[in-house]
Amino acid sequence: MLEDSFGRRFHYLRLSITEACNFRCQYCLPDGYDGPPNSAFLNIHEIQTLLTAFAQMGTSKVRITGGEPSLRRDFTDIIAATANTPGINRIAATSHGARLAKDAHRWAQAGLHQVNVSIDSLDPNQFALITGQDKLKQILNGLDVAVEAGLNVKINTVLLQDFSSNRLQRFLTWLKTTPVTLRFIELMETGEHHNFFNQQHMSGAPLRDKLLAEGWQPIIRRRDAGPAQEFCHPDYAGNIGLIMPYSKDFCESCNRLRVAASGKLHLCLFSEQGLDLRHYLSAGDVEGVKQFVTESLGDKHISHYLQQGSTGATKHLAMLGG
Ligand code: GTP
Ligand code: 5AD
Ligand code: SF4
Repeated sequence: MLEDSFGRRFHYLRLSITEACNFRCQYCLPDGYDGPPNSAFLNIHEIQTLLTAFAQMGTSKVRITGGEPSLRRDFTDIIAATANTPGINRIAATSHGARLAKDAHRWAQAGLHQVNVSIDSLDPNQFALITGQDKLKQILNGLDVAVEAGLNVKINTVLLQDFSSNRLQRFLTWLKTTPVTLRFIELMETGEHHNFFNQQHMSGAPLRDKLLAEGWQPIIRRRDAGPAQEFCHPDYAGNIGLIMPYSKDFCESCNRLRVAASGKLHLCLFSEQGLDLRHYLSAGDVEGVKQFVTESLGDKHISHYLQQGSTGATKHLAMLGG
């Protein structure tokens, strides 16, 4: 099992398969994507080499991210390749959800277990304003299809000052009858969005206090869980999670490593730069990948740089899969 100098163990890989996205979320790609095409990113053979190496080092959960992973034509094949890698028993994806209605069954059949979908507002106009796409209805239909296909569904909502007041009540009403986990995420500062961050960032702490005061109970975190602190309530079908990267001990329970679509290993979402694995991947060199990753792990820092006011090399989260 991979372990760093602070005793943290890494059984969870976040693999980005594309930097491209066709949404224009204000906090991520407000001007749209104009980077390399999908053909520039890791191909399925390189991905297989990577997954084999990580599985042999103890990775049991893989989250496929982007950009928007479903923009790759071979997304279903990538899910199947992940499912066919011995040792990997939990496969998740993070998506904007616009293709769920059409493809959720196919993805579930290929081996996908979980999908996290971004829904920044339940008001269609506000949703379109934040994401640049008027697709809320299509995505909500997609959630129903995903649940029907047996996928575990979580929703991501980024906390933003401008949209703080009326959003919460609508989400709470929705959660009364909708059996999903809704996570509120503190906006993280990225290299291209300093001004947006300064205007829109808000702490999740007041929301946490409000939930506790209203009878929401903290749920014990599972070993393979993500960074969210989750809460449940007897009167609600759904749960609420809070992802608060600016809180004091956020990085203490870090259990994940990242590989970007270009084949670079990132020891943290906000590390200085990626460490290039691509030549091992292109050569199908599983042992080379294992040795490189094991040696690199010694450089993983105790915490991300956000508290020190630095975003590392991360321009926006689409380049790294969040
Ligand atoms: P699961 O718990 O496995 O469902 O995954 P997750 O919540 O980590 O996945 P998702 O891709 O839905 O990410 C939700 C939010 O958490 C995104 O904004 C991510 O950028 C953020 N996030 C995930 N992992 C980390 C991390 O290690 N560090 C920081 N700072 N943010 C993270
Ligand atoms: N801060 C917090 N969350 C972000 N996401 C994208 N950019 C940011 C940011 N700067 C979220 C998206 C998506 C998840 C993968 O990351 O809303 O749900
Ligand atoms: Fe696309 Fe996700 Fe970035 Fe929105 S947050 S632009 S859906 S990659």
